Amino acid sequence: MKLNSSYKMFSMSLLASALLIGCGGNSDTTTQTLSGSVIKGPIDNATIMLKDVSGRILATSISKDGKFELNTKKLDSNFYILESQSGSYEDEATKKIVTLTSTMGLKTLLTKTELQEMLDSKKPIAITPETTIYATLVKKFIDNGDDLSSAMNKAQTLITNTMIKDSSPMPGLLGDKFLREGDFTTALPKDQTEAFARNRAVSFSYMVRDLGLEPKDAFMVMDEISNDLEDGVADGIMIGDRDINTSQEFSLSRTKLFQDTTTRMQNGQMSESEKDEFRKMGFDVDRFDDSMKNKESNLSAEVERYLKSTTLPLLNILPTIEDEDGNPNDPKATYTFTANKDVNVTIKSPNGSWITPMYRYNDNQLPLVVKTARGNQMTLNLNNQLDDDSTIHWHGFKIPADMDGGPDLPVAPNRNKAYTFKMDQPAASLWFHPHPDMQTGKQVYMGLAGVYLLEDNITKTLEAQNKLPSGDKDVVLLVQDRRFADEVNGVRELLYMDKNMDILGMYGDDILVNGSIAPKHEVSNAQYRYRLYNVSNARNYNFALSDGSKFTVIGTDGGLLKNPVEVDQILLGPAQRVEIIIDFSKYSIGDKVMLVSKPFNGGMMSMMGANMSGGSMMSRMMHGDQNMGDMMNENQNNQNMNGNQGMSNQTMINNGIGFSILRFDITTDEVDPITLYTELPSNAQINIRYTLADTTNSKERQFIMSMGNMQNGGNMIGQNGSMPQMNFVINGKTFDPKRVDEFIEAGATEVWSIKNLSPMAHPFHAHAIQYQILDRDGIPASGVDLGWKDTFLIQPGEIVRVIGKFEEINKGDYMYHCHILEHEDAGMMGYFRVGDSGVLGEQ
Ligand code: C2O
Ligand code: CU
Ligand code: CU
Repeated sequence: MKLNSSYKMFSMSLLASALLIGCGGNSDTTTQTLSGSVIKGPIDNATIMLKDVSGRILATSISKDGKFELNTKKLDSNFYILESQSGSYEDEATKKIVTLTSTMGLKTLLTKTELQEMLDSKKPIAITPETTIYATLVKKFIDNGDDLSSAMNKAQTLITNTMIKDSSPMPGLLGDKFLREGDFTTALPKDQTEAFARNRAVSFSYMVRDLGLEPKDAFMVMDEISNDLEDGVADGIMIGDRDINTSQEFSLSRTKLFQDTTTRMQNGQMSESEKDEFRKMGFDVDRFDDSMKNKESNLSAEVERYLKSTTLPLLNILPTIEDEDGNPNDPKATYTFTANKDVNVTIKSPNGSWITPMYRYNDNQLPLVVKTARGNQMTLNLNNQLDDDSTIHWHGFKIPADMDGGPDLPVAPNRNKAYTFKMDQPAASLWFHPHPDMQTGKQVYMGLAGVYLLEDNITKTLEAQNKLPSGDKDVVLLVQDRRFADEVNGVRELLYMDKNMDILGMYGDDILVNGSIAPKHEVSNAQYRYRLYNVSNARNYNFALSDGSKFTVIGTDGGLLKNPVEVDQILLGPAQRVEIIIDFSKYSIGDKVMLVSKPFNGGMMSMMGANMSGGSMMSRMMHGDQNMGDMMNENQNNQNMNGNQGMSNQTMINNGIGFSILRFDITTDEVDPITLYTELPSNAQINIRYTLADTTNSKERQFIMSMGNMQNGGNMIGQNGSMPQMNFVINGKTFDPKRVDEFIEAGATEVWSIKNLSPMAHPFHAHAIQYQILDRDGIPASGVDLGWKDTFLIQPGEIVRVIGKFEEINKGDYMYHCHILEHEDAGMMGYFRVGDSGVLGEQ
């Protein structure tokens, strides 16, 4: 599949509309006919005009359903402008009919030779926003005294270098001569131009939609872009009361188009005619289709195998740590966590067990669970017996900044720190993990992470009323992927990446649940409450049941949902949690069903395979010397994605592939005592829902996540298509421990707008409080998104707005970051300070 063509089409953005494909007649002396067909989303009823250098109209025509005919006389002018004015079109993104005023026009500019050649060869002509920008630039340069050919060269170079080369994940496909009619065909056969331009049109229309632009504003944006190209500065421009950074908006709409297109392709929602368009562009849709079908059939085959297996280990129940103060019933609790390395952990799998040296708290074989109640005064001691600095960060907690365990307050080897705070927030499935600067990924991966279950009167009452499963029907499932080295004398070492090796972050090839691979949980035919923790460094899971049964989500990161939501799958990014109810009552004794991760759209990366190591596909993609179709073929042929030389010869599980996680064996018959709550008691604090009316700042705080080369605005490709230094940035910045990035008033209720300009999903996490999602791409939150969260999975091109209230207790400095831990360690992180006197006053 030649993704590069599709990349290219995202690299440019067009007003949803105007591609007028002309087919030339012959170059005979008297009359030549340009006839055209128009793509989807054509401009209808536009006046098409051919003008000469002096602006004299030589021919006109009206577009009908995008078709036009234009008769020209002998060509005797130096250059020509083909212009489309007024008309209307259906916007591809909004599906609304947009009517253009008579003064709004799209143009393209051609030399006499070019036009004649097009007429002769019947090449298509494009009138697009880019060609309009191009024409505008040429005119400016001519006005400034350039001659025609140098003006054209300059304009083309500017656009190529700025709008195409550096903003495209795949430079170079179409070469530098991309703009005017005929040039498309050097890379694409004639009939592919339509699909190409159409997709660019969609991209622009996303931008128009996301910005809520009127046609006149869209034209203003185009003017602004041509100014930016000329002065080299991507300005924010004002439209109404918004600041718009045009190049960023272009990136965003492009990325979104890519994501939406691949999602539709993945979900089989592409029409045959659309698939045809992609086929014509050289995009191997069928191979992609097959690969999705393969993913699904591989998953069912794997599930079949596991359902029959007689060797699955029993699910480990994570041990709850004992309160050291000897009185578990007083409102105080003390725990000590000694971070140890070289703990020999037995890993069980369906194929036997082995020893893996890991880091663990308190020499325990398994991650520990803290169970405590709201209102308790906690003393949590860290004793760092590692060779490096460590901390314990209390993920999802509303606690003072100096107790938050961020990288600003490291605990040196052989040192202790007591974290003391009072828990005052609703019951939730929280967790904790090390957070030292640049070492978080490794320490978590090596085994340091724990579960923290907070309960409150609401949950206790629901449990007592049998409205919520409890006891041994309340089970934590800690899901993590790991990569093990080959066995040497019964020992398999954990393999951890060099953090520069893989832009996806650390992906493992074995999925562990509570420390075992593919375990089974023996259950009765009743309702169970599972707390699903994605404590993987980088992997997303699309949790589902193997037989397609629905289950009920009752809680998110920050606690219970007011109203449970029934789903058939749920996508969880790293650090995210959901509490679900699985009802086994419809099963009979002896039945088995599996918890799986269903295939999903893992973004562009999944299409190329998870293996993006520096020396191979990534760099070739960067250099553009191999198209992604070849890469895809390579992956398809290479079932073992073992390009990480020296790491492992095992299959690394591709991002978005399906796999099985855990088997439920229905072994016991019982009458289920539980009638699940349908709505939380009205006095539950967690029912609060913030709205825009609660915000105390008029301006939204922006967080823009991107990856790539900082010099070109966070795009993936370096100047000249060379291998750039890969950066992981938020708002264009990598982490600086001495810099506070955002200042927030204590007591403020703020809206944060988080945008993902990169081609992969990132889990954005912020400390200090729990947040609520207002909307995604302007669509109000619903269902599971109504729950409180501390981590939000932001898809490519997506804008997620969240709202949260910072309180007095939050005074001080906290982190926000991508919770792909390798991204965090690489600097995709920043500080925000609540209140004027941060705890780290010096920072
Ligand atoms: Cu779970 Cu700042 O992290
Ligand atoms: Cu956190
Ligand atoms: Cu990330």
